[in-house]
Amino acid sequence: MSHPPVATAIPSSSLHEIFRAADARELATGSPVIRLHVGEPYFTPPAEVAEAIADAQRAGRTSYTDVEGLAELRRGLATKLDLENGLDTPISRIFVTPGSCQGLSALLLSMAEPGTEILLPELHWPIHVQQALLAGLRPIFYALDESHFPDPDSIAAVSGPNTRILLVNSPSNPTGAVMDADRLRALLALGRERGWQLISDEAYEHFVYEGNHVSMASMERDLPDDQRIVHSVFTFSKSLAMTGYRLGYVVTATDAAAAALRVVQEAGIIAPPTPVQYGGIAALQMPAAAEVNRKLVQQNRDEVLPALRDAGLLRELPAGGWYAMLDISCTGLSAEDFTAQLLEERGVAVVPGSGFGLRPQLDDRGALVAMETDAKAGDLVRIAFCVDPEVLKSGVAELLAFVQDRNVR
Ligand SMILES: Cc1ncc(COP(=O)(O)O)c(C=O)c1O
Repeated sequence: MSHPPVATAIPSSSLHEIFRAADARELATGSPVIRLHVGEPYFTPPAEVAEAIADAQRAGRTSYTDVEGLAELRRGLATKLDLENGLDTPISRIFVTPGSCQGLSALLLSMAEPGTEILLPELHWPIHVQQALLAGLRPIFYALDESHFPDPDSIAAVSGPNTRILLVNSPSNPTGAVMDADRLRALLALGRERGWQLISDEAYEHFVYEGNHVSMASMERDLPDDQRIVHSVFTFSKSLAMTGYRLGYVVTATDAAAAALRVVQEAGIIAPPTPVQYGGIAALQMPAAAEVNRKLVQQNRDEVLPALRDAGLLRELPAGGWYAMLDISCTGLSAEDFTAQLLEERGVAVVPGSGFGLRPQLDDRGALVAMETDAKAGDLVRIAFCVDPEVLKSGVAELLAFVQDRNVR
């Protein structure tokens, strides 16, 4: 029996479809689409970052670095992780990666026992699912309550003897939920009790509008190194709008995990791009920049999103991140139809929730036989609120008018 390549069975993320549809509409109508589908911020990276990269290039600092990245950058990251995140980690466990997306993917490859299970939130960033499948893992989805929070019981309920990894993402893409220390502690306790490894994706660490960001690995600060189980993933992409620079970093829980990740990175990238790492060193010199950016996104949230809540589309304002999940069930439309008609009639691009509620169906061998979606996600659409305030305002106004139209018909 033949086994087709796994990647041929995994659909590309629904975001790509929206990109294509938005571009096609612009071509057809000649007028710009209001782009609320993509998490690209309207603020720009610090000029110092570009200068540091250009300087590095001009000075010929362009050869391969260690597979983990420049020691100078990793020393700076260790200080940032200590002061901001409460992590106590030697630089030998910090890996600079070309974006945290690659870091996550490599981490999963380094941890995966093929055929075992990884627990993901029922509403998730679809790339987590793609990465899990490519690593040979079987994704299992844990329930979230109506405020999009998991609890240990709901996670325990879907886990089994083959479960190895629990992934948490706070602040969350796509829901904006932010977990507090008590909740994270409870999930960590469950993970420890069951002998799991934990992955904490903290891409949106600097975008918290209510409460504080808590790094799960800070709760293991006082444990001997070889007893830690939390692997953390961070990025410069969001905090400093450095999305296209591709600069992130992974902190492994133990030296053994670092040794495995080193192999995956050697095989996959040899080393992260050198000049960009000098940009990272410059970025670490400006910790206040992330706070400025947080305020900009919070202002968008506070000024524009309440209208969506008042219209019954949003239960509560997202406590963090760049995205809000709107419940569009009042329109009677599926998320796909809502998205297509909103783009067609009002020129506003959003993402259907089904793209964040993937349910891959695997056979006994672990081969992907179908990609289904969760029914609940079919009532949701995601908007990004990190965009230009005027774009956000007009997009939300059009969306509300579209919903109003549907409700009076
Ligand atoms: C939850 C989450 N994790 C990780 C990433 C990866 O970001 P990057 O690869 O730019 O660091 C993203 C990007 O959208 C994200 O939403």
